[in-house]
Amino acid sequence: MTVKLVITALSLMFTLLLLENIPQAKAHLDCGNISIPYPFGLAPGCYKDDWFKNECNKITNTPTVFIPSIKAEVLNFSDYKESVTVKGPIKSSGNCPAWKRRSSTSSSNSSTLVNLTGSPFMFSSVSNRFIAVGCNTLGTITEDATLLIGCRSTCGKERGAIEWDDAGFCQAQNCCTTSVQAGLQVLNPSVQSLHKGREDDEDECKLAFLADGEWFGVLEDVRKVEGMEYVPLKLAWVSNFSRDTFDQETVSCGYSSDLMNPSPNTSVVTATECACNPNYQGNPYDPQGCT
Ligand SMILES: *[C@@H]1O[C@H](CO)[C@@H](O)[C@H](O)[C@H]1NC(C)=O
Ligand SMILES: *[C@@H]1O[C@H](CO)[C@@H](O)[C@H](O)[C@H]1NC(C)=O
Ligand SMILES: *[C@@H]1O[C@H](CO)[C@@H](O)[C@H](O)[C@H]1NC(C)=O
Ligand SMILES: *[C@@H]1O[C@H](CO)[C@@H](O)[C@H](O)[C@H]1NC(C)=O
Ligand SMILES: *[C@@H]1O[C@H](CO)[C@@H](O)[C@H](O)[C@H]1NC(C)=O
Ligand SMILES: *[C@@H]1O[C@H](CO)[C@@H](O)[C@H](O)[C@H]1NC(C)=O
Repeated sequence: MTVKLVITALSLMFTLLLLENIPQAKAHLDCGNISIPYPFGLAPGCYKDDWFKNECNKITNTPTVFIPSIKAEVLNFSDYKESVTVKGPIKSSGNCPAWKRRSSTSSSNSSTLVNLTGSPFMFSSVSNRFIAVGCNTLGTITEDATLLIGCRSTCGKERGAIEWDDAGFCQAQNCCTTSVQAGLQVLNPSVQSLHKGREDDEDECKLAFLADGEWFGVLEDVRKVEGMEYVPLKLAWVSNFSRDTFDQETVSCGYSSDLMNPSPNTSVVTATECACNPNYQGNPYDPQGCT
């Protein structure tokens, strides 16, 4: 904390000198060719707290990054102003041929519950969309006694035909999408047929998943998801960085709509809130900040 304050207080020129003289502990920041940005990190002292601790799994040829605190596998740490993309579950029902070809570890039966309650992570409401694929299908994000959030699709005239809106999201026919509320931490997707009258509906492969809307927006064929083991899911995070520690000259922080109850007084910031000012580069959350 002292180091952080001292560096923040230094002039830009002095900070640059300092950076040149201190060799970067680059080895702690990378897992294979995935570079891990603060507050995430592999070694003690590199991550902010245990929630952001990572593991580098080098069992396979392409190392993968894992977040043990929430049992999530990282696909990508995007820009600092973005969130972290992890592998998200796909719920299916009916006859999904592609699922049978998969390894025995994944099946349509496996639990698709992701529970982030108590952690600083949440499903990004800004980035993700909930998607249900199938005709006459009801897909729900989570179900508790008071709330049923999801979407329902119709069958449309042509089997499997999908209508797209300008943003690349499917409309009610054979596929539907909805956004999620800010602060969502429990994902337990379910998918079911709305009526059993038509034989072809009952056996149809139906899917429900929460996924990065940008990824989904350019996906050409939603049926491709049938053969996937996971979808990219964006998580936002909060942490108790004090706003005062950010150098206003180099860093700007806004208020993220990913937070359920954004309070102008909160000392907590989310991953989507702070960014380097124009002409500065770096990681705003890192003690070295933007230079
Ligand atoms: C890492 O590098 C290898 C070899 O250049 C490449 O095949 C692989 O796709 C890269 N992985 C990522 C996550 O960028
Ligand atoms: C990963 O993040 C980088 C940096 O933002 C971005 O350029 C790249 O497209 C991302 N890769 C994937 C597969 O999303
Ligand atoms: C899935 O669940 C059903 C019913 O519980 C069971 O009959 C079936 O064997 C399970 N399939 C797998 C692959 O575990
Ligand atoms: C999620 O985890 C919290 C805290 O561990 C627990 O109280 C809650 O029941 C869990 N929710 C579900 C749906 O499992
Ligand atoms: C953030 O929380 C940690 C642990 O609870 C505490 O040690 C630290 O002082 C807090 N930092 C700020 C800026 O509030
Ligand atoms: C917000 O912070 C200001 C200055 O620290 C304080 O005077 C005010 O009471 C705070 N408001 C709330 C709602 O906490």
